[in-house]
Amino acid sequence: MKDSDIRFAKFLVLVNAGVPGVLLTWDAFHHTLGANPVNFAILTTGMLALVFLILTLIVTPLRKITGWNWLIFSRRTFGLYAFFYAFAHFSIFFALDRSFSFSSTLTEMVKRKYLIIGSIGLLAMVPLAVTSTNAMIKRLGAKRWHALHRLTYVAAICGVIHYYMQVKADVRQPLAFAGALTILLGYRMVAAKKNAASAQPAGGPIKKIWSGSLRVARIIRQTPDVQTFRFASPSGGPMPFQHQPGQYLVISPVINGKKVNRPYTISSSPTQPDYCEITVKREEMGLVSRHLHDTLREGDTINIAAPTGRFIFDGTQAKSVVLIAGGVGITPLMAIARYLTDKGWQGDIYFAYSTKTPDDIIYRKELDDLKARFPNLHVHVTLSRADMDWMGHKGRVTAEFLTKCIPELPKRLVYICGPEAMMAMTVQVLKELGVPAEQIKLEEFVAAKRVELDTEPGKVCAPIPAGGVAAPEGGEPKLTFSRSAKAVALTPDKSLLEIAEDAGVNIDFECRSGICGRCKTRLLGGCVTMETQDALDDGDRAKNLILMCQAHASEHVTVEA
Ligand SMILES: Cc1cc2nc3c(=O)[nH]c(=O)nc-3n(C[C@H](O)[C@H](O)[C@H](O)COP(=O)(O)OP(=O)(O)OC[C@H]3O[C@@H](n4cnc5c(N)ncnc54)[C@H](O)[C@@H]3O)c2cc1C
Ligand code: FES
Repeated sequence: MKDSDIRFAKFLVLVNAGVPGVLLTWDAFHHTLGANPVNFAILTTGMLALVFLILTLIVTPLRKITGWNWLIFSRRTFGLYAFFYAFAHFSIFFALDRSFSFSSTLTEMVKRKYLIIGSIGLLAMVPLAVTSTNAMIKRLGAKRWHALHRLTYVAAICGVIHYYMQVKADVRQPLAFAGALTILLGYRMVAAKKNAASAQPAGGPIKKIWSGSLRVARIIRQTPDVQTFRFASPSGGPMPFQHQPGQYLVISPVINGKKVNRPYTISSSPTQPDYCEITVKREEMGLVSRHLHDTLREGDTINIAAPTGRFIFDGTQAKSVVLIAGGVGITPLMAIARYLTDKGWQGDIYFAYSTKTPDDIIYRKELDDLKARFPNLHVHVTLSRADMDWMGHKGRVTAEFLTKCIPELPKRLVYICGPEAMMAMTVQVLKELGVPAEQIKLEEFVAAKRVELDTEPGKVCAPIPAGGVAAPEGGEPKLTFSRSAKAVALTPDKSLLEIAEDAGVNIDFECRSGICGRCKTRLLGGCVTMETQDALDDGDRAKNLILMCQAHASEHVTVEA
């Protein structure tokens, strides 16, 4: 579908969705709503709210089944109309049935439970309506926005129950809504299961991570505030680990006497066996990035754990790929582009890069060289603060920029990495252009929580007896896995994650450095110490979650695994 067709279809949906409301208002003014106009208006607006909620939920499955990706544009309009009609439904009830009386409305709600359920549905729609703008998507970030918008199901379920309980005799219509909703929910659950399965990295589950020290072989300036650090084995020879394109490593420099962990993408290609590189932007107040730029010198050694991460593209996942980068977020995408070109991969690689000025273009010369040598690599740079001499694209990553640079976008697999706001906006744009959500892979450079340099390794104990399990008295210290009903000997120099792996208990993990939070597990009994707790927030601590990759114990402990 062309842009102009999409705009016209958007306009048609917007106008037509309002028609029932206009007709209802017209009939109300002309007193043609029948014997009980208030009831009629309440019923009609309620029904419209449900219809539009179901339409909102139908868009994604319909797109996937038919391949009509342009349908995505209608979802927001349907959602807003659902809220509008639900609000009108309640307002008519409150104003005309209850004569604006709060006490009468509340008394009625206490008497008729379906009114409470309907109100919960309406309340669930408020955050959906408030956060429906692009600015809110940008503010919340794509992940949180999508999680919040699952409330649409809550609103729809409440709406259907409300309708069913309210209907006195003929329940066929509420049952029809319930049937449609059940099918949609079923579809969602199956799709979520499939997505979880496809989230596995190209090379299967992540393998154990190597850790040790590497020598800084070279430091290369890329832009005024970005440098590349090349690491090599201190004894020479091949690197002690192998990575996949797009993965990251965790460096652990000691700053002011305290070890600090930070993840950095391995920007070099896995085809380079003798070194690996990271490319780091110096953050004005950043602890580690400033340390790397200002203190680390060629010849120094640094502690590294590698490789990890699931943001991988090695050419086996699709026949073509779109790489969209913002600022220093170019690093994993550059690793992918370097790998694919080194391997002589035949697919089309569309590389769209957005940064501020010509001086901020990281890997500029190399990108130009690769572009000249590989006709299947299509590089497009857009600058948000371009100067007069810049002849390329100007502005941010917009629908116009993407459609100009990348043909048949909805068919392709897209990898994005950049600042949070840029990624959220790009995801929204891609969805509006018809790219299905499961074809979009994201890498977020989330900053670790600021470490307090003078803190000791954290000791965490399970509350006993409230929610906790009393540790057995005496005997050899044991680690008990409550769900797996297993108990194994504790080895204090191994992390609980390592002990779980030895015992064959499955615990998810990624970074093994206390950063990603994948190994969070509930501590039910005993005490552990954790050197790093970066991935835990106050909510996690309140739930007694610990990081299995960081936790060590010397006395009996029980975890929920
Ligand atoms: C998977 C992954 C891959 C990554 N890959 C890369 C990469 O390839 N290249 C790269 O450059 N980064 C990358 N990052 C980000 C990197 O890990 C760090 O988060 C980043 O370098 C900042 O770390 P820092 O210690 O310098 O800043 P921190 O000290 O952690 O501070 C974080 C932010 O807060 C600001 N800040 C801190 N203290 C203050 C203060 N008192 N007042 C105001 N502002 C403050 C800093 O300026 C900084 O912007 C990656 C992150 C992840 C999760
Ligand atoms: S595996 Fe990442 S925090 Fe434990």
